Amino acid sequence: HRTVALLVAAGTGSRVGGDIPKQFRTIGGKAVILHAVDAMMAHGGIDAIHLVIGAGQETQVRALLADRTIAGLTEGADSRRGSVRAGLEAIAAAGGADRVLIHDAARPFVPTAVIDRLLGALDDAQGAIPVLPVADTLVRGADGTMGDGVARDGLFRVQTPQAFMFDTILAAHRCWDECREATDDAQILKEQGHDVILVAGDEGLEKLTYPQDFARAEARLASART
Ligand code: C5P
Repeated sequence: HRTVALLVAAGTGSRVGGDIPKQFRTIGGKAVILHAVDAMMAHGGIDAIHLVIGAGQETQVRALLADRTIAGLTEGADSRRGSVRAGLEAIAAAGGADRVLIHDAARPFVPTAVIDRLLGALDDAQGAIPVLPVADTLVRGADGTMGDGVARDGLFRVQTPQAFMFDTILAAHRCWDECREATDDAQILKEQGHDVILVAGDEGLEKLTYPQDFARAEARLASART
């Protein structure tokens, strides 16, 4: 099996705020994007890493990567889906792969065990995603007012990396109706009639989305080092 990791890092990170996109901010002195790259490199089953980055970021990213070997650097698009598609096409143009792990660079900590679970699940399905159960009570809300409660049984929070057989996810992206916007590659695969297996996620995989997420990530890294 040739397994490739596709890291998408072309977002602007508008919800985090600040001048620097979140993937370039540091945690424990190291850029978020490098945490994600190094986590993928630390897993013995990943043969190559492709990065999708924003326009004009190549010089900065190459400097950050230093001596790390990256198979490809591709410019992203306005939407996450477009950025993933650009990355998949770049991998295809570079010879393709058997399996791909699509990952948000904004999730710096990637446990090896989650990757093992995902790749193991690909023996039985075209796709597998890491999820965690929902712990909080859920309600609908509109205009700041509470609506109906939502039963949380059977509901999961979806994380990345998400693992797919490469040809299947590439084909699913290529025929996706361009007007619809999916936040998630597994949805795209499922729409094409494929089963997607759920494997256990990990609290460490939480995405950096809001400003306070960085303080939590610093604390997590510090406690992991002691
Ligand atoms: O914005 P959000 O937190 O959902 O982004 C998830 C991941 O997708 C981030 O790593 C971000 O850099 C990436 N992304 C992208 N291209 C976009 C939007 C988001 O590569 N246009």
